[in-house]
Amino acid sequence: MSPAQSGTRENADSCTMVVFGASGDLTKRKLIPALYNLSVEQRLPAGFSLLGYGRSEISDEEFRRKMREAVKEFSRPRVENEPAWGSFAHGLYYLAGDYEESKGYLRLKEFLAKIDRERSNRGNRIFYLATPPDLYAPVIQRISAAGLAGKGARDAGWTRIVIEKPFGSDLESARALNRELHEVFDEEQVYRIDHYLGKETVQNILVFRFGNAVFEPIWNRRYVDHVQITAAESVGVEGRGGYYEKAGATRDMFQNHLLQLLCLTAMEPPISFAGDAVRDEKVKVLRSVRSIASQELAQVAVRGQYGQGLLGGQKVRAYREEPGVAPDSTTETYAAVKFFIDNWRWEGVPFYLRSGKRLPERVTEIAIQFRRPPLLLFNACPVEPVSPNVLRLRIQPDEGIALTFEVKSPGPDICVSSLSLDFNYQAAFGLSPPDAYETLLIDCIRGDSTLFTRHDWVELAWSLITPLLRGWESTLPNFSNYEAGTWGPEEADALIESDGRRWRRP
Ligand code: BG6
Repeated sequence: MSPAQSGTRENADSCTMVVFGASGDLTKRKLIPALYNLSVEQRLPAGFSLLGYGRSEISDEEFRRKMREAVKEFSRPRVENEPAWGSFAHGLYYLAGDYEESKGYLRLKEFLAKIDRERSNRGNRIFYLATPPDLYAPVIQRISAAGLAGKGARDAGWTRIVIEKPFGSDLESARALNRELHEVFDEEQVYRIDHYLGKETVQNILVFRFGNAVFEPIWNRRYVDHVQITAAESVGVEGRGGYYEKAGATRDMFQNHLLQLLCLTAMEPPISFAGDAVRDEKVKVLRSVRSIASQELAQVAVRGQYGQGLLGGQKVRAYREEPGVAPDSTTETYAAVKFFIDNWRWEGVPFYLRSGKRLPERVTEIAIQFRRPPLLLFNACPVEPVSPNVLRLRIQPDEGIALTFEVKSPGPDICVSSLSLDFNYQAAFGLSPPDAYETLLIDCIRGDSTLFTRHDWVELAWSLITPLLRGWESTLPNFSNYEAGTWGPEEADALIESDGRRWRRP
């Protein structure tokens, strides 16, 4: 991820990536477009190959044709470039097989040996689990039984495994999955994906914090009043009702993306930018997050589910009317939680996190609100009191950073208004940031695990989220409690307003 590691063919070994779940959505929407763009930018190692594994009986040619369609539909530009596509497509293969039968894995082994010969890949492999999560454990076991895991084998090329979210559905299941993995792979072979960590603006949090001397001295309880982390989405469940019913906003967004943002905002400076140094600091943050006791659940956490409403002038249906969703579903499509981090830097500073579907707009941001000046001198104009400074790290859209501050309005009296100092990625660099998957895939190919989730982080995150889920499961919610197209349930406003603060309207 650092400039020194920036992608060139020279610093990555050639390898074959086996994608389990190759006929699924993730492969065509994210993986293939990202790899294609890396190939066009000449960042993939020469000989890089992808072997799709799935249940559909299709040929290599058919797979290549489908992937070409996918690139046309989902990739950033540069799709019409025939020679570029030809050279990328040359390394695409497909093998039909069952996920739970060993026979398929023996054929896979032979196929990989053939690709190694054809493309000189020297046995380097990445297994990518893009299947439904109930197949993770069976696939891991079959990879091992076929002798493909490469654990401890130092002379046969390297082997890595990438696992998509959800990584478990609670603490227990996450621990079980970690155990399954570690029976077969060493932790350094395992790459747990959280696509938020691949976002350019998320990585920029670290550069902003540790590449500038001016903010670090005020990045603590003495100067920061509170932090708000928002991941708002205007979309509903987009045909994923079946998955979402079991997940809900807390599993889908909090356990992974939002807690990652909290860690990057709150962590101490790492001793270096290397994988475990950064990940150690993130783990320390989660260890300091105060766990939520069941008797205080109602004071620190709110859940919601959207009913019908208006979005962009269009009427949209209620969550309970979405395909695949139970008509009496108790799944939350919105959650807001107040966390405290019990360490020297953050003692007493609330971190308010919220995320929801069918909110008025799509916006993800971290807002750090500083304390007000100790003495308010300017009250000539009988308007609002001086506003506190707010630093907004805008993750998406309009990626950038903004700092609000107070200035004197022109005129004879001392009147104060708020202005903002803005940096916008697109305007500053003239290009949109690359897709998160491009960053993460090339990091995995190079063996850089900094932006991937470690086993202890994932378990700590679940240990914070699981009591919340258990508490909610024990009571029946009063859903729906917010209209689609609004900023969530009233109780969420009460959660922050009872502390004398307000949600920011991004
Ligand atoms: C995914 C969730 O992990 O993140 C989705 O499963 C959600 O429900 C998505 O929509 C949000 O990602 P992004 O990159 O659009 O903010």
